[in-house]
Amino acid sequence: MKKDALLSVKGLSTSFNTHDGVVRAIDGVDFEVFPGETLGLVGESGCGKSVTSLSVLRLLNPAMTRIQGQVMFDGNNLLDLSPDQMRMIRGGTISMIFQEPMTSLNPILTVGEQISESLRLHENLDRRAAREKAVQMLEMVQIPSPGVRVDQYPHKLSGGMRQRVMIAMALCCSPRLIFADEPTTALDVTIQAQILKLLNRLKKGSATSIVLITHDLGVVAQMASRVVVMYAGRIVEEAPVVPLFHDARHPYTRGLLNSVPVLNDESRNRLSEIPGIVPNLLRMPGGCSFHPRCPRAEDICRKESPSMTAFGDNRRVACWLADSKI
Ligand SMILES: Nc1ncnc2c1ncn2[C@@H]1O[C@H](COP(=O)(O)OP(=O)(O)O)[C@@H](O)[C@H]1O
Ligand SMILES: [Mg+2]
Repeated sequence: MKKDALLSVKGLSTSFNTHDGVVRAIDGVDFEVFPGETLGLVGESGCGKSVTSLSVLRLLNPAMTRIQGQVMFDGNNLLDLSPDQMRMIRGGTISMIFQEPMTSLNPILTVGEQISESLRLHENLDRRAAREKAVQMLEMVQIPSPGVRVDQYPHKLSGGMRQRVMIAMALCCSPRLIFADEPTTALDVTIQAQILKLLNRLKKGSATSIVLITHDLGVVAQMASRVVVMYAGRIVEEAPVVPLFHDARHPYTRGLLNSVPVLNDESRNRLSEIPGIVPNLLRMPGGCSFHPRCPRAEDICRKESPSMTAFGDNRRVACWLADSKI
């Protein structure tokens, strides 16, 4: 029997008011996250991955944005909660890890103070207990000399260490769901591998779910059990990780897979990019939004937008030609 979803996003659409007009950054996004799983959310830069997570967490400026749809978490539609209720959920039951730890950490607070702040708010710990737990958390994310580091400011730490601090903060209140938005993109390859290993290790044996946002399919292969692929603000394909890598149906997903560099492989320099660029959201092409870049586009693709079709084991794809052999 299928477990109940922890998070169920339905028809999520977010638009921004800009000088040039209304930008519809995501349009009718549906997905579910089940307890204990890591869901990969992938797509090129500008496809709407961050806007999706920022909309779910209600971190966008309400004066400039319009969010429609439903975000069910624990029986509540997060979009209906008051700002105070939402603040209690963020950093507590649902936490976040962002790409650039230097901009997400407060430069004028020590790392211990920042972890403690969250513990005092969400777990009601007093100052002393919060500091003790902060040291434990730093130890858990394998920061050497945690008793010393806890009193240091973020600029004293390397990029990799700062990302470990972010992970410690994200985990300190035992969240049920973590949004990790490009958590290792700013780090060099060796540190990236260490951080991913750490995340995987911390994740094992816990019921916490992760939505892992990345443009890097290599990261997804290592971490995720299921993958959602986004293009130009919409989901174009979803599949468990193995079928996605072996039998992708959307030409966009195939394009992304072809552009994954294989480490230590001669073919690395033959790596093919998907020709063309993500469309300007103010001038979206008619029909399927991928058709101008699609090697297989036919007449129908230029005229009508394909709807999402479910098939196989928990798979779905939005492509007119998905059934035919490629
Ligand atoms: N505050 C904003 N105002 C206007 N457009 C925005 C804003 N934030 C994001 N966008 C646009 O929404 C689209 C999706 O952005 P984003 O979710 O950041 O992409 P990704 O995370 O996949 O790289 C992009 O075209 C981006 O320019
Ligand atoms: Mg992003």
